[in-house]
Amino acid sequence: MTVPAARIVFDGADREAVAAAVVESLATGALTLGPQTERFETAFAAAHRARHAVAVATGTAALEIALRVAGVANHDVVVPANTFYATAAAVVHAGARPVFADVDAATFALTAATVQAALTPSTKAVVLVHIGGLITPQVPAIRELCDRRGIVLVEDAAHAHGCSLDGQMAGTFGLAGAFSFYPTKVTTSGEGGMIITDSAEVQQEARIYRDQGKGAFTANHHVRDGASWRLSELNAAAGAVHVQRLAEFVRHRRAVAARYLDGLAGVEALTPLAEPPGCVGNFYKFIVLLPQGADRTRFKSEIADRFDVRLSGEVYDLPLHKQPVLMKYANGALPVAEDVCARHVCLPVHSDMRDDEVDQVLAAVTAVSGEMFG
Ligand SMILES: Cc1ncc(COP(=O)(O)O)c(C=O)c1O
Repeated sequence: MTVPAARIVFDGADREAVAAAVVESLATGALTLGPQTERFETAFAAAHRARHAVAVATGTAALEIALRVAGVANHDVVVPANTFYATAAAVVHAGARPVFADVDAATFALTAATVQAALTPSTKAVVLVHIGGLITPQVPAIRELCDRRGIVLVEDAAHAHGCSLDGQMAGTFGLAGAFSFYPTKVTTSGEGGMIITDSAEVQQEARIYRDQGKGAFTANHHVRDGASWRLSELNAAAGAVHVQRLAEFVRHRRAVAARYLDGLAGVEALTPLAEPPGCVGNFYKFIVLLPQGADRTRFKSEIADRFDVRLSGEVYDLPLHKQPVLMKYANGALPVAEDVCARHVCLPVHSDMRDDEVDQVLAAVTAVSGEMFG
């Protein structure tokens, strides 16, 4: 039996609910910025105990809008080196310069010290990324540093649907949080993004930016450098249904992770990333560090070829300061980010994963690890 790298879970009842909502949109002709979008926003805000949510076309757009609202143009923005291209691309598209910072190997996240080391006189914002759905206990220290220096904290919470730290939800630690609904994410709308914030003003600005910077829906007066960042009602319909499953998906994924952690407890060569203290994660990715110098490509192909288990993509395999299109922003070595990017793998986690699938993965990684790393 093949264990796939990812599985998107829309069960029969959810598919029917999405279909009914899509039929309603087609019948009424309200195909953008209508009731499905409002439903999606209300449900997503409630799931994250945020005052406001603004749905947009993609996670990248959500981040760019949050950064534009923060006023980063012509300034520096600190981002971790081991994140997705879009984190830094949003900074560039918002007219700012990304400054890459190192991370902590235990959480894959920025720390107050690594942020401090990356600050310049021109730093306007820090983008904290919750890689794999883990939230670092450094959040209060990073927040304090930002507040003290008058720097805006924005979260790239693309991986962190439904996660929390000490009871506070992802996306609510700073000025705004940006989420992605790309199909592999914990909940999806096909494509889509969401900005959450407790600030009425940020919400208002985000609504202006997402619709071509228009001051009002029906007027062609463009008051901000916005773009066509609206989410279609058909996507919103899917997202509004899927987000209702978020708490259940998070519970299931945490149970999968607990089984992985149990099964890997005696495997010395493999170091899984567990939830840091205070964090309730969603295990968007179950990250495992391989030993120094391990041949990751061979590890993955042995597992695929002999055990029919597909490991999901890394988060991420090449740090941003080594990406061809971003190298011009590089400012020296970032040893921890480089190390963890080079030697981690991600075990598959599905929101409906069965115990026998988890056990098949455990058998595969244990056997191959034993052969390769003794
Ligand atoms: C960390 C991170 N940031 C940003 C994005 C961008 O989201 P999207 O693909 O919806 O634009 C993604 C998703 O792919 C992501 O994983």
